[in-house]
Amino acid sequence: MSKLELGVCYYPEQWDRSLWRDDAQRMAEMGLDWVRIAEFTWGLIEPKRGTFKWDWLDEVIDILGEAGLRVMMSTPTAAPPKWLIDEHPEILPVGADGKVRGFGSRRHYCFSSEVYLAEARRIATEYSRRYGQNPYVHAWQIDNEYNDHDTVLSYSDAARDGFRRWLAERYGSIDTLNKTWGTVFWGARYSSFDQIELPNGLVASPNPTHALDFARYSSDRVRLFNRTQVDVLREFSPGRDITHNFMAGSFEFDHYAVAVDLDIVGFDSYPLGNLLGSTLSDEEKRRYLRTGAPDYQGFHCDLYRSQGRGRLWVLEQQPGPVDWAEKNPSPADGMVRLWTWAAYAHGAQTVMFFRWRQAKFAQEQYHTALLRADGSQDQAAVELAQVVSERAALPEATRAMAQVAMLLDYESIWAADILPHDEAFPNAQIFREWYAGLRALGVELDFVGPQDDLTGYALIIIPQSMIVSPGLAARLMDSQTKLLVGARAGSQTNNMHTPQDLAPGELTELVGVKVQRVESLPDLAGETVRLEDGTTHEFTGWREIIETRETVIACFSSAYRDGSPAIVRSDRATYLAMIPRGPLLQAVLANALNWANIPTSQCGPDLRITYRGELGFAFNYGATSLSLPEDSARSYLFGGSEISPYGVSVWRDL
Ligand code: GAL
Repeated sequence: MSKLELGVCYYPEQWDRSLWRDDAQRMAEMGLDWVRIAEFTWGLIEPKRGTFKWDWLDEVIDILGEAGLRVMMSTPTAAPPKWLIDEHPEILPVGADGKVRGFGSRRHYCFSSEVYLAEARRIATEYSRRYGQNPYVHAWQIDNEYNDHDTVLSYSDAARDGFRRWLAERYGSIDTLNKTWGTVFWGARYSSFDQIELPNGLVASPNPTHALDFARYSSDRVRLFNRTQVDVLREFSPGRDITHNFMAGSFEFDHYAVAVDLDIVGFDSYPLGNLLGSTLSDEEKRRYLRTGAPDYQGFHCDLYRSQGRGRLWVLEQQPGPVDWAEKNPSPADGMVRLWTWAAYAHGAQTVMFFRWRQAKFAQEQYHTALLRADGSQDQAAVELAQVVSERAALPEATRAMAQVAMLLDYESIWAADILPHDEAFPNAQIFREWYAGLRALGVELDFVGPQDDLTGYALIIIPQSMIVSPGLAARLMDSQTKLLVGARAGSQTNNMHTPQDLAPGELTELVGVKVQRVESLPDLAGETVRLEDGTTHEFTGWREIIETRETVIACFSSAYRDGSPAIVRSDRATYLAMIPRGPLLQAVLANALNWANIPTSQCGPDLRITYRGELGFAFNYGATSLSLPEDSARSYLFGGSEISPYGVSVWRDL
């Protein structure tokens, strides 16, 4: 099915029973298809070990189902009950500061705890035995937001023990580990796996391979935790889709690896909540204070749609002000509708709003919802009604494969965090910036991971891939695709060593350069890059001094090695000896797209255009009306060629 479906996150346990039937009726009348429930209910369902109180949840599911709603049930492992923590306090996670994080909120568990893994399996079994075959339960969410509150990395005793076992399995002998980590450095030799500690609380920076292995180990634990529950659900609830809700801007575990085990990748979309804490400039934050960044929805939906092999759902959509950011402005009227259509346009099948009714007590009272706490409709409900009437006008449509793919690899992001060489190295932010730059030029994107099929694209963009394995390099070579390769690519081996023939290591043959030296420059250096068309752009940050026999198409103007190559091009690859940003990035991207024969259009800062199959969508994130470029004849399904502030137009090309 590829029509937009709509849903809501519902917490019946927080409301009097007498409201449930009316709530369900109203949900159905408002055009909602799905209700997600129960992700924080363990302590209510099993108030003490082995005693279960299912009656109320049975009743809720019946009421929702009888109203015609499809239920997404959740496993409740994001909030273990107090009695379990009292029984096994070692379940609690430990921060990098060595402090145990206590009971009383949520996510108070450590992924390394074998006790908790067994408990998670047990409770997932209980929930799925009870509801797995329930005719109203059509899908499952496992747990809730794995890295919420920064809980993927935990420095507990269980993590230390698990890490030691993981290392013993990976390396076989301590000699191999010593060699791989390079523990001859600072005389950090180990004589057994039992001597190895976690890489926190040290005097200076940890050994990089030690730190990277801990990131890998922690990521593997997330996958194992998720997979354990997937296996249970597959057994007791066959045929139901299984998902988990990934977060925006979260890179702490390998999302590709977790996604492989899921049927649908879920995404929790909070465009305003994530704005102020982002790395956008103050000017951009002011401009998009009430809309969110224009590429927030696109970036995450494209990334998670790709990881979901085309199957993406927004499991939580911001409905109005949230309660958890440093400041919580209201979105402009119209934005909830716009975000919903933007998610759909970028491939989401379903959009669920967080939440049904604003809470009356406890932690999230200032978080808005479809309804206010008194049950009256808030602005999001008004916009939902508009979406419901609009969706009836749209034919089904499925997103096509893009011509351009962006390679995003979690290990390389961890590696650059471990060895930044520039305190302000933009790292994960590089992906957002390049994505936004490409979208401003009207380019559609898929994402690929290092294990993915790379064939069929006209251009693969590699913003920051420090670690390039021989296998990935071979597949890039075989893909026959043109490549745009950012600095640092291939600069570390899988073990975080400098490659034998220096950077870009495995990519040397493909890109035809050798990196002789790297430096990082502060903004005050005031240096520039001169492009082949004679234009000059300010440049700062990461710079490489490279040697090449390929064509140099841009040079640095610098007080050091003036005229050294900044961009080099061969038949297959364009290599950047820098991390371009701002206007320089825009110029570099436009140049590379032209080289790869990818058509572009000028969308500017506020207009975004994307296609879902034959349906064209345009979104205006700005406060003034915009006209669509007149490059195609269109038949509008709603909206028109003039798009009002925060407006949406949808059409078919004629
Ligand atoms: C999400 C979380 C929800 C709720 C929401 C509020 O991160 O999954 O349970 O807390 O934030 O915006």
